[in-house]
Amino acid sequence: RPIVFSGMQPSSGSLHLGNYLGALVNWVALQDEVDPIYCVVDLHAITVAQDPAELRTQTRFTAAQYLAAGIDPERSTLFVQSHVPAHAELAWVLSTITGFGEASRMTQFKDKSARHGAEATTVGLFTYPVLMAADILLYDTNLVPVGDDQRQHLELTRDLAGRFNSRFGETFRVPEAYIPEEAARIYDLQDPTSKMSKSAASDSGLVRLLDDPAVTAKKFKSAVTDAEREIRYDPATKPGISNLLDIYSTVTGTPIADLEQSYAGRGYGDLKKDLAEVVVERLSPIRARTLELMEDPAELDRLLAHGADKAAERAERKLADVYDRVGFVRRR
Ligand code: TYM
Repeated sequence: RPIVFSGMQPSSGSLHLGNYLGALVNWVALQDEVDPIYCVVDLHAITVAQDPAELRTQTRFTAAQYLAAGIDPERSTLFVQSHVPAHAELAWVLSTITGFGEASRMTQFKDKSARHGAEATTVGLFTYPVLMAADILLYDTNLVPVGDDQRQHLELTRDLAGRFNSRFGETFRVPEAYIPEEAARIYDLQDPTSKMSKSAASDSGLVRLLDDPAVTAKKFKSAVTDAEREIRYDPATKPGISNLLDIYSTVTGTPIADLEQSYAGRGYGDLKKDLAEVVVERLSPIRARTLELMEDPAELDRLLAHGADKAAERAERKLADVYDRVGFVRRR
């Protein structure tokens, strides 16, 4: 069975619709056919300043949302990154074969450091993609289901795997990105040329899994569109409508062409109202289940500990191999 690895940062209490449609939906769908490993990447979350108490809550909330969305802890290995020290350890080794210039070219780093300013730009933010490569390479991962914004990080991961292999011998499997066609990039509802992101300028364009259903509906009804009247998919000239159609199509499984046909001659208001309904219908049970799971954090922690045991066993084996290959003396 192909090995699948992916993760999300617990850097906000709620995941958003981009995280869900771009990645989490695929994580769930892949479960039956693969050996899935899903991680809450808390080490990544501290690359920008965090509040410790909030991080703890958000980490549990993120795991609870994975479960609520359909991740089955029996079929999937579900764990928290900091519970498996091999991630940080392999990241160190990989950082020594990563070029400074190579890391400097990462567009997410450039965007984030521009946003946070020179003072808040840490070495951790810079080496973030190397830690991500370690996450993936520790498990002999075949496929990495992510949104389009992770494409460049995946390329770096593949480069590092190949470089290590050619310098020290076959050690890592070179993984492939698994990026959906339609929902790879969900855009902000208020600013449909920017991707939906937790660091959005305004809250009203960001659809959170844990928003109150009335709030979600309102966000869709006030989505920014254009001055035409035609419901037609054309991301270049109609980014707002195209984003709504993308979301609609992914949530319901209806091809975009069919949506265009059934909304021919109808107004934007109809589309927004219907879409608000289908999204709320999809997200409501996830929200309810997440809140239910959060009522028993001890049970959640128990599940995560079990996942960490399973992950650690695999990760430690790979790390030991890496340590041998780079020439470290084995501890007796
Ligand atoms: P993160 O936490 O920013 O996002 C989690 C996942 O959501 C996807 N995503 C989107 N997809 C479509 N439209 C959007 N607007 C949108 N916004 C986010 C992301 O592509 C991602 O799949 N570096 C990663 C976390 C990570 C990771 C890993 C992923 C760490 N180690 C190993 C895979 C494998 C990140 O920051 O994702």
